[in-house]
Amino acid sequence: MRFRRLINASVLAVVAVGSLSTVAASAHDARPSKPQDQSLRALAAKHGLYFGTAVDPAAYAADSTYKTMVDSQFSTVTAENAMKWESLEPTRGTYNWGPADALIDNAVRNRQLVRGHVLVWHSQLPGWLNDGINDGTIDGPQLRALLKKHITDVVTHFKGRIWQWDVVNEAVSDPWETPSAIHLGGNAGSFKQKFADLLGPGYLADAFRTARAADPKALLFYNDYNVEAFGDGGAGDKTQFVYNMIKQLRADGVPIDGFGSQGHLATQYGNYDVFQVADALQRFTDLGLAAALTEVDARSLMKNADDPTLAANGADVNARDQAAAYNYHVLLQACLLNRHCLSFTVWGFTDKYSWIPNWFKNPPEGAGCLWDAAYNPKKSLRTVQGDLAAAGPPLVGNRIPQAPRQLPRR
Ligand code: G3I
Repeated sequence: MRFRRLINASVLAVVAVGSLSTVAASAHDARPSKPQDQSLRALAAKHGLYFGTAVDPAAYAADSTYKTMVDSQFSTVTAENAMKWESLEPTRGTYNWGPADALIDNAVRNRQLVRGHVLVWHSQLPGWLNDGINDGTIDGPQLRALLKKHITDVVTHFKGRIWQWDVVNEAVSDPWETPSAIHLGGNAGSFKQKFADLLGPGYLADAFRTARAADPKALLFYNDYNVEAFGDGGAGDKTQFVYNMIKQLRADGVPIDGFGSQGHLATQYGNYDVFQVADALQRFTDLGLAAALTEVDARSLMKNADDPTLAANGADVNARDQAAAYNYHVLLQACLLNRHCLSFTVWGFTDKYSWIPNWFKNPPEGAGCLWDAAYNPKKSLRTVQGDLAAAGPPLVGNRIPQAPRQLPRR
């Protein structure tokens, strides 16, 4: 007993000395570091929010600044391309798990959660699958069987290591194609329509059920773009269509746990306000879903606003930087205001590797990320840091974790 008391006393003394020296060492620096000097993951953690980025493995391997920032700024990561079907099974029957496995290993080392992206999508399919669909050698039943095998193989391979899976991505037509539909509308003859037609209407439900069977602990998301806010509720309101679709899937007992709103915004279009986006998230989470902002960026036209043959001038640059910051602010505040909004992921964090200039070339668009191409902080970054630092109770509380939806036994 006496011995234990002695030990306790000496442990206490060591602890006391340790904390005294800590106090002494930091006495001249007692204030916490400024928000702009803290990582996004630390600022978001105060709200239980995970802050993420899409990751490009080639940049991660080649650019030490990029790697250091992925490792230190973010608490969740998404493979920008490495988990897509064309990356995982470029040759039929032969999987290439290496880059995706390495990404997850790095995430585990950095105490980051992983969003799995993506299981079912009409884009970035392997060449052999595209060819088979196009030339008719892969018919509907074959495609359904291939998709089921793909989901099972991939989810099983990564089982236990994925927090949120984007099970189905972008299944709904674009907002300018009315009426909204699963891959129909103005897409007559397009590949994505052919893909959906071959699979038949039940493919979303099948995909979620197959994913749940392969990993009962992962959260299963439907993910799409241009669903940040509701429109007029009419035939061309994509958000309304997605809402009705998910509501029906859940009523049918389909194991869908989350709604992913990608958040690819552009400053040349009208902006949403915070409450339009908050209202949309609220309506989805009222269905019993978790929510996530999954691919946020805010791009701009890169030429002179009045004469696109000229380079952008100072007025253009100032206007677009501030408008981009406002777009980040709207999406982040809406997410913070909803305690079921679990993560906020940007689709790349530096303009150096952003997908935007490769995609939007005529007219050229870009400048959509938090850091510029030389890793200088932009207004968007400062706005996000400020929002995270200033938020708190009573309006912004800790996140409410979501458990995967278990279906009642039949
Ligand atoms: O792999 C080839 C490479 O071999 C070749 O040298 C190079 C030449 O351009 O192209 C490479 O493929 C590119 C691939 O990204 C990998 O870098 C494709 O051309 C390019 O089209 C592809 O773009 C990706 C795009 O999805 C395809 O749809 C973007 O990186 C990726 O950021 C983007 O991500 C999507 C989400 O998955 C879903 N939501 C929208 C989002 C943005 O489009």
